[in-house]
Amino acid sequence: MTNFWHNLPRPFFALAPLEAVTDVVFRHVVAAAAPPDLFFTEFTNATGWVHAGDKAIGGRLVKTSDEHPIIAQLWGADADAMEKMAMHCAELGYDGIDINMGCPDASAVKSGGGAGMILNPENAAAIIAAAKKSGLPVSAKTRLGYSRVDEWPQWLEHLLRQDIVNLTIHLRTKKEMSKVPAHFELIPKIKKMRDEVAPNTLLTINGDINNRTHGLELVQRYGVDGIMIGRGVFLNPYTFEENPREHTRKEMLDLLRLQLELYEKYADQTGRPFDTLKRFFKIYIRDFEGAAELRDKLMHTKDTDEVRALIARVD
Ligand SMILES: Cc1cc2nc3c(=O)[nH]c(=O)nc-3n(C[C@H](O)[C@H](O)[C@H](O)COP(=O)(O)O)c2cc1C
Repeated sequence: MTNFWHNLPRPFFALAPLEAVTDVVFRHVVAAAAPPDLFFTEFTNATGWVHAGDKAIGGRLVKTSDEHPIIAQLWGADADAMEKMAMHCAELGYDGIDINMGCPDASAVKSGGGAGMILNPENAAAIIAAAKKSGLPVSAKTRLGYSRVDEWPQWLEHLLRQDIVNLTIHLRTKKEMSKVPAHFELIPKIKKMRDEVAPNTLLTINGDINNRTHGLELVQRYGVDGIMIGRGVFLNPYTFEENPREHTRKEMLDLLRLQLELYEKYADQTGRPFDTLKRFFKIYIRDFEGAAELRDKLMHTKDTDEVRALIARVD
C-alpha cells in the first residue's frame, strides 16, 4: 500500500519527537523558520488515554488541520489500548502512527513501554499489529538495544520482520542514554540487514545529527532514507534550511515573538503553563552582547507581555 511515506523526498528530514518541545506551538515555529519534510508529536501514552481520556495526555495530540505529514507518536504496552488510541489518531487526521520503543524513562520502561519494549519483543510485535488496525501506516522508533550494543542484530531484525513502513534508529542503547556518541559505525551493517530482511521498510537514522549538512553527508556515505534531527533545533531553529545561512538577531527575535503568539493562541487547548516557555528562550537569545543577561531577566518573567517588553529593548 502506498502512503505519504513513499512520496517523501529522498533523503527526507524529520523533526524528532521531543517531549514538552514538539507540541503544536513549537512545530509551527520550526515550520515558519525552515520546515522539515515530516513532523512527529511528543510521545503520548495510549493506555493513559484509554483510561482517563484527553486530560491524561495534556494537549499532546493538538494539531492544526494543515499540518502534514504529521505522525502521532504513541507508547504503551497494552495492545487493546494501542488499537483504540491509533484509531482515534486516524480520526484526528494524523497521517501515521509511530511507536516509541526507545524512551529510557523509568516509569515508561517499568510499564513495558518505551525502551521496555526491547525486553519484550513479542509484545512489541503485538503493539505494532494493534496500531495497524487503525489503517494508518505504522513506523517504530527505537534504540540499538537495552543494555548492550550487540543486541542490535536480533532486536532490529525482529522489528524489520513486522512489516513497518519506517524504522528510525537512535544509534545508542537505552543504557547509554545520550551519554556516549551515536554509533554511526554500525549504519552499514544495519542498512545491509534492512536491504536483506525488509527492503520496503524505510530506514531513518537519529542521534547527534545537528543539521541538514551533516545529515546529507551521512546519507551520501551510508545510503539511508531519512535523517531525524532532535536537539539540533535547540542549537539552530533554522536547522532544516536547504541553503544554510546566518540569521539576524531580528529574525531570531521574530521567531520568539511567533512562539509567544502561538503559545497564547493554543494555551487553552494545550493547557501548558507560561513557565514551560522558558526552556525555549536560549534558542533565540544567544550569540550577541548582553544575551546572557537578557536570558537571565527573561527567566524571571511572569507572562508573555513581560517577555515582549524585554526583547523589544534589543530589537
Ligand atoms: C527533551 C527531549 C525530549 C524527548 N522526547 C522524546 C519523545 O517524546 N519520543 C521519542 O521517541 N524520543 C524523544 N526524545 C529522543 C529524541 O527524539 C532523539 O532520539 C534524541 O534526542 C537523539 O537525537 P538528537 O541527537 O538529534 O537529539 C527526546 C529527547 C529530548 C532531548
